[in-house]
Amino acid sequence: MKLRYQGLVAFTFAASLLFLTPQLMSIAARTESGNETQQRRPQKKVATPKKPRVDYTKFSHQTHVVTQKLVCNSCHKVPSKNFKEVRKGEAAFPDVSDFPEHASCLNCHREQFFARERPAPAICSNCHVKNSPKDTSRWLFPSLGDVNDPTKKRREFISEFGVGFPHDKHIDVVGFNAPRPGRDPRGWFVTVSLQEKKKDGPPKSCPVCHQTYQPQGDSSEEFVTKPPKNIGDAFWLKKGTFKTTPNSHTVCFTCHSADSGIAPAPTDCNVCHKLVTPQSLKVDFDLKLATSMGITDATMLSKWSRRISAGAFRHEGGEHPDLNCMGCHNVPTMNTLDAKTLKVQVRSCGGPDGCHITATTDDGGALNFEIDQKKKDATFVCTKCHTTFGKEGVPEDHLKAFPEPKKKSATSE
Ligand code: HEC
Ligand code: HEC
Ligand code: HEC
Ligand code: HEC
Ligand code: HEC
Ligand code: HEC
Ligand code: HEC
Ligand code: HEC
Repeated sequence: MKLRYQGLVAFTFAASLLFLTPQLMSIAARTESGNETQQRRPQKKVATPKKPRVDYTKFSHQTHVVTQKLVCNSCHKVPSKNFKEVRKGEAAFPDVSDFPEHASCLNCHREQFFARERPAPAICSNCHVKNSPKDTSRWLFPSLGDVNDPTKKRREFISEFGVGFPHDKHIDVVGFNAPRPGRDPRGWFVTVSLQEKKKDGPPKSCPVCHQTYQPQGDSSEEFVTKPPKNIGDAFWLKKGTFKTTPNSHTVCFTCHSADSGIAPAPTDCNVCHKLVTPQSLKVDFDLKLATSMGITDATMLSKWSRRISAGAFRHEGGEHPDLNCMGCHNVPTMNTLDAKTLKVQVRSCGGPDGCHITATTDDGGALNFEIDQKKKDATFVCTKCHTTFGKEGVPEDHLKAFPEPKKKSATSE
C-alpha cells in the first residue's frame, strides 16, 4: 500500500497495535506521530566524537536530493529495463518500472555494498525483498500501483513525496481515448473541457482519473462490512463512499511521453513529485472506529484517513452521482500538494436545490435537523455527514450556510 504524505492528527487513537494489520499500523504510525520525514531520516548528531550510526536500511531522498543535490535521473532511469515485462503487449509503455541500478549507488556506497553483514549488507533491503543470496528478487516498484502480479511483493512504505497535479492546467486538455501506439500522441486525447458535462451529469474528464471505489452497484448489500442489528441512524461505512486517485503513470504518460513533447517529460520526476513536509490536519476519521467496523482495505483506510471535510460523505449515495463534481470540488483552486485547498465547503451540501440545507427544518434539511438537535442537547452527535467531527460544537460556517433569500451573505467566498 501507498501511504500519503500528510501528517494527520487523529482524534482518537487507542487501538492496541498488537491487533492491527501492517496497513493499519502504518496509518496508526502516521496519524499518531504526524511526522514521517523524521522517522525516515537517519539520526544525525552534530559534534560527537564517535561517527554516528547511519541506518542503511532506510533510504532517504532528503539526504540524496536535498543534501547531496543529486538529480532524480542520476538514479531513476526511464524507461527501466523491465518495462515490457511488468506490463505485457499493448499495455506496456516506457515507464520507470524498477529501482535504480547498483551503478547509481556504487560511487558513494562501495563500503556499504561490500560490508561484511549477514545474511547480506543492510543497504540491499532498500530494493531487494530478502537480504539473502538465495533470493535476489526485488520489490514491485511502487509506481506500478495498477499492476497486479501475485508473484511480486509490494512493500509498505510512507512516501516522502506528494503528487502535484495542476487540475487547472488540464481543464481544456483532458478527454480520453485509449492510447493508440504509433499515432501522433496528440491524437490520443480529445479536447474536452473539464466543465463539459455528460447530459447534466458529472464532467466526462474526472472519471478518467477518479472512479468510485468498490461501488454498491446492483448489489443489495450497501455496507462494506456487516453492521450490528440495532444500527438505527448510527454511522456505518457504506460501499461507494470513496473515489480513487491515480496510482500509477498509466494515464499521465499517455500525454506526457518522450514522443509527445508535452512537458513534463517522464524523466522530469521532480515536476510531478515534490518532497513535502507533513501537514498537521484535523481529520474526520477514527482508526478505532474503522477497526471496530472490520475495515482493513488499504485504499479505504488511506482515503478515509485523509478526509478533512466529511468522513461519512458517500459519492454513490442518493443523488450524488448525478451532480456535477465541480459543484462540490472547486477544481480551479485546488492544489493537490496543499490539503487545506481540497476542503469541500459546507455550502456545497445545499446545492442549488437546498438538499441538506433548507430554509426551515420542516423542509427536511439534514443540517437543519442536526443543528436543532445540538441546540436542544449539546451531547447530540451529528452523524449524517461526519464520523468524528459531529461530537464537537457547531462551526460558524455551518450556521452561515443557510439560504438568505434577500441578500447574499457577505462572508461567502
Ligand atoms: C541517490 C539515488 C536517488 C535519487 C537521486 C532519487 N531517488 Fe527516488 N528512489 C531511490 C531509491 C533507492 C528508491 C527506493 C527506496 C525507497 O523507496 O525509499 C527510490 C524511491 C522513490 C520513490 C518511491 C518512494 C517514495 O518515497 O515515494 C519516488 C516517488 C521517487 N524515488 C522519486 C524520486 C524523485 C522525484 C527524485 C528527484 C527529486 C528522486 N527520486 C531522486 C533513489 C533515488
Ligand atoms: C553522491 C554520493 C551518493 C550517491 C550516488 C548515493 N548516496 Fe546514499 N548517501 C550518501 C551520503 C553522503 C549519505 C549520508 C550517510 C553517509 O555518509 O553514508 C548517504 C546515505 C545513504 C543511506 C542512509 C540513509 C539516508 O538516506 O540518509 C542509504 C540507505 C543510502 N545512502 C542508499 C543509497 C542508494 C541505494 C544509492 C543508489 C541508488 C545511493 N545511496 C546513492 C551519498 C550518496
Ligand atoms: C537501489 C536499489 C538496489 C540496491 C540497494 C541493491 N540492488 Fe541489487 N539489483 C537492483 C536492480 C535494479 C537489479 C537489476 C539490474 C539489472 O537488471 O540489470 C539488481 C540485481 C541484483 C542481482 C542480480 C539478480 C537479479 O535479480 O537480477 C543481485 C544478485 C543483486 N542485485 C544483489 C544485491 C545485493 C547483494 C545488494 C546489497 C549489497 C543489492 N543488490 C543492492 C537494485 C538494487
Ligand atoms: C507527469 C507527472 C509525473 C512524472 C513526470 C513522474 N511521475 Fe511518478 N507518479 C505520478 C503520479 C500521478 C503517480 C500516482 C500518484 C501516486 O501514486 O501518488 C505517480 C506515482 C509514482 C510512484 C509511486 C507512488 C509514490 O509516490 O511513491 C513512484 C515510485 C514514482 N511515481 C516515481 C517516479 C519517478 C522516479 C519519476 C521520474 C523518472 C516519475 N515518477 C515521473 C506522476 C508523475
Ligand atoms: C489526468 C488525471 C486527472 C483528472 C482528469 C482529474 N484529476 Fe483530480 N487528481 C488527479 C491527481 C493525480 C490527484 C492527486 C492525487 C494524489 O495526491 O495522489 C488528484 C486529486 C484530486 C482531488 C483530491 C483528492 C484527495 O485525496 O483529497 C479531488 C477532489 C479531485 N482530484 C477531483 C477532480 C475532479 C472533480 C476532476 C474533474 C473536474 C478531476 N479531479 C480530474 C488526477 C486527475
Ligand atoms: C455533493 C458533493 C460532491 C460531489 C457531487 C462529488 N464529491 Fe467528491 N468529495 C466530496 C466530499 C465531501 C469529499 C470528502 C472531502 C474530505 O472530507 O476531505 C469528497 C472526496 C473526493 C475525493 C477524495 C477521495 C475520497 O473519496 O475521499 C475525490 C478524488 C473526489 N471526491 C472526486 C470526485 C469526483 C471525480 C466527482 C464527480 C464524479 C465528485 N467527487 C463528486 C463531495 C462531493
Ligand atoms: C490528455 C493529455 C494529458 C494527460 C492525460 C495529462 N496531462 Fe499533464 N499536461 C497536459 C498538457 C497539454 C499540459 C500543458 C498545459 C499548459 O501548459 O497549459 C500539461 C501540463 C502538466 C503539468 C504542468 C507543467 C508545468 O510546466 O507547469 C503537470 C505537472 C502535469 N501536466 C502533470 C500531469 C499528471 C501528474 C498527469 C496524470 C495524473 C497528467 N499531467 C496527465 C496534458 C495531459
Ligand atoms: C450536510 C452535511 C453536514 C452536516 C449535516 C454537518 N456537517 Fe459539519 N462539515 C460538513 C462539511 C462539508 C465540512 C467541511 C467544511 C467546513 O470545515 O466547514 C464540515 C466541517 C465540520 C467541522 C470541522 C471544522 C474545522 O474546523 O475543520 C466540524 C467540527 C463540524 N463540521 C461539526 C458538525 C456538527 C457538530 C454538526 C451537527 C450539528 C455538523 N457538522 C453537521 C458537512 C456537514
